[in-house]
Amino acid sequence: MPTEKAIVLATTNRGKIAELRALLANTGITVKGLADFPDMGDIPETGTTFAENARLKAAAVARATGLPAVADDSGLCVDALDGAPGVHSARYDGENATDAGNNAKLLDALRHVPPEKRAARFVCAMAATTPDGRWAEARGEWPGVIAPSPRGGGGFGYDPLFFDPSLGRTAAQLTPEEKNARSHRGQALARLIPLLDTLLA
Ligand code: IMP
Repeated sequence: MPTEKAIVLATTNRGKIAELRALLANTGITVKGLADFPDMGDIPETGTTFAENARLKAAAVARATGLPAVADDSGLCVDALDGAPGVHSARYDGENATDAGNNAKLLDALRHVPPEKRAARFVCAMAATTPDGRWAEARGEWPGVIAPSPRGGGGFGYDPLFFDPSLGRTAAQLTPEEKNARSHRGQALARLIPLLDTLLA
């Protein structure tokens, strides 16, 4: 019988928690979410890189809960926009931005940019830390192209505009399984999982 170990994923997003739980099934590691710690206040994401934000969130949650914590930070980087929206992806169109507003702003910013110059990537940084200050980190990138108009009804965020040329579909046209198998978050998580065993040993 493995000893019970618990980690907190620094999110209230049930999809992300379920994904990590599934990947850690049979490892003896229990995954908690921030819903299990209602007193945990807002964590400021003041970093200038995805990795910095992931570290800030993981450190804050480990400190507040006394448990090892995992955090991710992700976004879309567009070459023709010098990497924007980047760490500002969620609020590209302003403080109360919606997915539709963010996508409209992105299309407008690229209106004069021809197809061959619309390269972009989704990036995800993951950081895990223990209350005694040990760390594990991983990163994933998913290259693609920004489509001229939205396509597909699945996913969230910039998925309808993110076209994967190797598949001939946007991220919003993929099943969740197809997306997880190649996404920036799927890649980062797959790299982090083997490191967690050592971190929690
Ligand atoms: P978060 O790091 O999960 O909070 O994501 C930050 C923002 O990046 C989201 O609000 C989305 O706008 C964008 N983003 C991150 N990952 C994805 C994705 O897989 N598809 C579409 N948009 C994403």
